[in-house]
Amino acid sequence: MILPGKTIGILGGGQLGRMTGQAARSLGYGFVVFEPQDNSPAGQVADLEINASYEDETALQRFADNVDIITYEFENVSAKALQFLSSRKTVFPKAECLYICQNREREKKFLQRKNFPCAPFEIIESAEDLEKAIEKIGRPSVLKTADFGYDGKGQMKIKDEPYEAERIWNCFGLGRAVLEKWMDFEMEISVMVAIGSNGGTCSFPVSENIHTNHILDYSLAPARIDSNIRKDAESLAKEIASTLGIVGLLGVELFVLKDGSLAVNELAPRPHNSGHYTIDACVTSQFEQFVRAVCGLPLGSVGQHKPVAMVNILGDAWSGKEPGFSELLKSDDVKLHLYGKAEPRPGRKMGHFCVFGEDTSDAFERAKKLKATV
Ligand SMILES: Nc1ncnc2c1ncn2[C@@H]1O[C@H](COP(=O)(O)OP(=O)(O)O)[C@@H](O)[C@H]1O
Ligand SMILES: [Mg+2]
Repeated sequence: MILPGKTIGILGGGQLGRMTGQAARSLGYGFVVFEPQDNSPAGQVADLEINASYEDETALQRFADNVDIITYEFENVSAKALQFLSSRKTVFPKAECLYICQNREREKKFLQRKNFPCAPFEIIESAEDLEKAIEKIGRPSVLKTADFGYDGKGQMKIKDEPYEAERIWNCFGLGRAVLEKWMDFEMEISVMVAIGSNGGTCSFPVSENIHTNHILDYSLAPARIDSNIRKDAESLAKEIASTLGIVGLLGVELFVLKDGSLAVNELAPRPHNSGHYTIDACVTSQFEQFVRAVCGLPLGSVGQHKPVAMVNILGDAWSGKEPGFSELLKSDDVKLHLYGKAEPRPGRKMGHFCVFGEDTSDAFERAKKLKATV
């Protein structure tokens, strides 16, 4: 057990690291961030921010020397860097979990190998592969880069209209990829599962996710699904997390299909945007649970106080003007979170807010109205 007073090191300085750091500090832990860019959202709340490339072994050594346990909020850390750190300090989730989840091809093959349901897919290395895969999978389908994709980046939808595989492949231009069948889903949901280093497991209330332009727009909890689907989603997510051997958090994104069955979309071995609602709506937030899990403390209660809608605030809100937060701040049951990012770019996640309601639909309606005031 890593007790409060010890220091947690995190790779990655984004908002997930920031909110983890805030939770770690509340429990009395020290917090050190490793991140290439200075003054990062997580660095701002850390005892120490080490700014260096993930390949810089002198800096990685300094990081390891300053912490008692290591985790990450950023998935594109190289296997080599993680190996280097793992031989010096405990790293949770284990390097093998990250290796699978950081690459879509490995993730999909893992799901297939272990018989977890997911969209039909093919691995693509060339225009010929793409041509054959489109014939096999059909359209619409979606081409996704195997490495480094997030927030819909590195994705191309292939519509049901005349096409030339060669042109699509050249235009995509990102090397190895996965072609997936486009799923005609009823709803997108996600489950955050925590597994502690002491073996405890729990999952947060299932959230319902609404994306706009492939970026998460709203997360609503509890999801408006029937109890059988909820139970299936929870047990599927827990089974995946334990099969992966996760210690920490696993975010499992799922499609609920028209017949009520589930297909896994993506896995994230870290806190997840769709779990931000837990800060304001649950007894224990996903960030505190993450800290508890990797440090081997007992897991906290995931009880939810009130139905909630979480809304992402993107850099687009700054285009040509300063966004107004006065309506949000005036409302007595809205919680605003900003991540301390200096540069608002379109599509960049700058913050989020949570709105409560009588039920999920009520929270969602209020959230849509409030979003329009930002
Ligand atoms: N096969 C698919 N069928 C239907 N919608 C999809 C599919 N793949 C992705 N999407 C949509 O795009 C969003 C982002 O895709 P995802 O694979 O989760 O990538 P990331 O979140 O890493 O950008 C999904 O949440 C979903 O709304
Ligand atoms: Mg996703």
